[in-house]
Amino acid sequence: MSNHLEPKNSGDSDDSLKVTAATKREFPDPVEENHPLPSFVLILVGAVLSFGLVYFQMYQDGANAGTKGSGTASVEQAPAEPTLAELGKSVYANCQPCHQASGLGIAGQFPTLVGAEWVSGSEKRLIAILLKGLSGPVKVAGVTYNGAMPGWEKTLSNKKIAAVLTYIRSNWGNTYPEITEDKIAAVKAEFAAKADAWNEADLLAIPENATIAAAVTPTTQGAAPTVAVDLEAGKAQYQAICIACHQPTGLGLFPVFPPLVNSDYVKGNPERLIAIVLNGVIGPITVDGKAYTNMMPAQGAVLTDVKISQVTSYVRKAFGEGASPITPEQVAEARKKYGTRATSWSEAELLAFPAAN
Ligand code: HEC
Ligand code: HEC
Repeated sequence: MSNHLEPKNSGDSDDSLKVTAATKREFPDPVEENHPLPSFVLILVGAVLSFGLVYFQMYQDGANAGTKGSGTASVEQAPAEPTLAELGKSVYANCQPCHQASGLGIAGQFPTLVGAEWVSGSEKRLIAILLKGLSGPVKVAGVTYNGAMPGWEKTLSNKKIAAVLTYIRSNWGNTYPEITEDKIAAVKAEFAAKADAWNEADLLAIPENATIAAAVTPTTQGAAPTVAVDLEAGKAQYQAICIACHQPTGLGLFPVFPPLVNSDYVKGNPERLIAIVLNGVIGPITVDGKAYTNMMPAQGAVLTDVKISQVTSYVRKAFGEGASPITPEQVAEARKKYGTRATSWSEAELLAFPAAN
């Protein structure tokens, strides 16, 4: 009896056979897939972006030069060696959220830096405030504030603190003398043990006209053998090549071009700096605490040993806290080792160089 059921079943399977055959003849069902952008498109977009920024910057420089009434190349006007006040202007970005672009602060919250006795008076007190911060009631230009300002000694270099103080002392109608980097170092050393922020009473206990102990002068004089490198020529190289990206100030342009100021790649191991200029840099790199992911074109094919020695020496002098000059012989030596390299350096490879000066 079960036989009676068989044909039905076999009929069924005939049908399903047909269906399978039919499906086999069809195209596969469309499936949604994830096609990432081809990498060349990404690179192209990046290149266009960088170009745009460089172009914009050049145009701006050009426009500024124009307003100064001169038609000559803008690079000649750009101060390649930033003054403390110029560097300070960019460092002031840290202060601006509270003390405002006008330096006038916000009534009841953030005190003014204009006409403030803390800014015009004792340099030692002012440096002390910047290093450690300030909290609790404090009288500024006749008004009492009761807030808290963070200390900056852990986030800003001595040079940047000197720069921002020089900037606030010479801006908005303030006309007080610059504060040098070695004074910051000296006050930092004197209060090295102090961990908390100042209050007004402790600050006032620092005599108004306290002198700042002579700082240990950095060993720039005599440390390096005197080599005759033409720094003026180096400056010209910088203005012709590096300036478009690293900017007249050497501060770069976050997040596209890293700074040469406050960079161990500049002031550290000379061989590593030469290697960077010879072969370029690519991929993620952290400079002065900020992350960049871009590429720097290799310059080895376009610059002679002498020119690389000039431009690197200039960069070290102008932005590298006066680090020793680099000779053409040192460049030749490095070129022997790395000249045949086809790829740019990655951060990991650069960090594998000894950091030594
Ligand atoms: C988060 C807000 C904030 C930031 C950022 C900040 N400050 Fe202040 N600053 C204050 C406050 C608040 C006081 C007053 C503290 C108090 O009431 O004890 C102060 C006080 C001062 C004073 C002494 C009083 C005066 O106005 O003369 C100086 C000088 C000063 N700041 C400079 C700076 C500089 C330079 C920077 C940048 C490196 C900076 N501050 C960044 C909030 C800030
Ligand atoms: C087209 C733009 C461009 C030019 C021109 C250029 N650089 Fe760079 N440079 C960069 C970028 C971008 C990086 C970071 C690359 C990365 O993200 O991996 C860099 C990195 C560096 C670094 C290591 C990081 C740092 O900031 O200290 C040094 C040193 C440096 N460049 C020096 C120079 C010098 C010297 C010249 C001129 C001879 C020069 N560069 C020309 C774009 C440029």
